[in-house]
Amino acid sequence: MRSYDKRDFPVGEVRRFLEPGPVVLVSSAYEGETDIMTMGWHTMMEFHPSLVGCVISSANHSFEMIRRSKECVINVPTVAIAAKVVGIGNTTGGVVDKFATFGLTATPAIKVKAPLIAECYANFECRLADAGLVRKYNFFIFEVLKAHVAVSPKYPRTIHYRGDGVFMISGENTAKYRRLFRAAML
Ligand SMILES: Cc1cc2nc3c(=O)[nH]c(=O)nc-3n(C[C@H](O)[C@H](O)[C@H](O)COP(=O)(O)O)c2cc1C
Repeated sequence: MRSYDKRDFPVGEVRRFLEPGPVVLVSSAYEGETDIMTMGWHTMMEFHPSLVGCVISSANHSFEMIRRSKECVINVPTVAIAAKVVGIGNTTGGVVDKFATFGLTATPAIKVKAPLIAECYANFECRLADAGLVRKYNFFIFEVLKAHVAVSPKYPRTIHYRGDGVFMISGENTAKYRRLFRAAML
């Protein structure tokens, strides 16, 4: 087993190793307007209720849309629309209609007013569950109320941001270590 030679590394860049991914698209709706933003900074927090924490910068147009409507949809894109994911991250909804600009289809959700993005592999309808950390950290805690997931493929080719303009595309899967898990941990 090897150990690694290491050097000092800037703490502000550790995100390159910890950013969980997949990169997602967050869609929102408020007072007749819709928006989409690209997001990498999210984390699972609980199974039941299904809680997801998300950092949404207050500089983003989506921030007020989501803070006021208390809803959003977390959409999981695949590498097939990676260029659109970057474009959505480069633009702001205050200026452009991102559904029209990027040729994406908004379809109605069941539990929230924010639209689903039809071209994404999965769509999770979310309601704001706790805004207690929004002011201090721009950290929204959402409950997933309804999930729509494509029937195939089982393992989509999602994109994961490594910083500096580089994506990792999910690929290889292995069940080689499955037998090592305690059943409760599967
Ligand atoms: C790969 C990638 C990941 C991003 N992750 C986040 C994130 O986690 N949180 C955030 O606030 N902005 C993130 N952004 C930036 C927003 O997507 C960007 O500011 C976007 O233009 C906001 O759109 P809006 O102003 O229409 O809300 C990311 C952008 C890219 C390209």
